[in-house]
Amino acid sequence: MAGHRLQVQQPGLDIIVSPDKSLLQSCTESGMKLSQSCRNGNCLRCEATLVAGQVTLRDGRRLNAPANIPLCISYPASDMVLESLPLSRQGSYWHAQLTSKGDWQLAAGSQPPPQLGQRVAVLQATRVDPSRVDQISGRHVRLAPPVTLTGSGSAFLIALSAPTRGNLALWHKRHLHPQCLWSNLSADTGQLALSLCRRAQWPGQYWLD
Ligand code: FES
Repeated sequence: MAGHRLQVQQPGLDIIVSPDKSLLQSCTESGMKLSQSCRNGNCLRCEATLVAGQVTLRDGRRLNAPANIPLCISYPASDMVLESLPLSRQGSYWHAQLTSKGDWQLAAGSQPPPQLGQRVAVLQATRVDPSRVDQISGRHVRLAPPVTLTGSGSAFLIALSAPTRGNLALWHKRHLHPQCLWSNLSADTGQLALSLCRRAQWPGQYWLD
């Protein structure tokens, strides 16, 4: 079967991809190291934004641009353009809930918890707080300084071990006023934070600038 042209804006990539291979597989075979885990469309670590073209998902559904697509279950259905790729240097993250004792309980999963002393950022719908892991018990983590839960009641802990400094900022707009949530981000950390905001489906609009 004839291939399709895949262009990626950031990092620059221009390759021919087979409709029989997932975009994750094709990009990996072209030498890109991409963030991934479940490979069945659940964890969204491999999510990318389709800005032109269309893909067929593993279950047969067709998605047209603009759309956020998990690369592991997306197959080319036309020539396509992706905004960027989720490079594997992105940091680790955990979905977390604040308990009544002031600990953060990490969602169940195979990913080990962060290390004692690990620098983290708590990402919520309308704020980001830097902190550090002060105590760990199983999947319960205590942070210092402590971070309170606001707004939607859900949050992500992002490990800051990967390179995080850069010239991007994460923005949010719910009503009229744009609000900068997190500044001086590297492309990897910014993309991860943006993916998590979209995954959480918090109200409002998020973007990187
Ligand atoms: S690797 Fe989990 S959604 Fe693609």
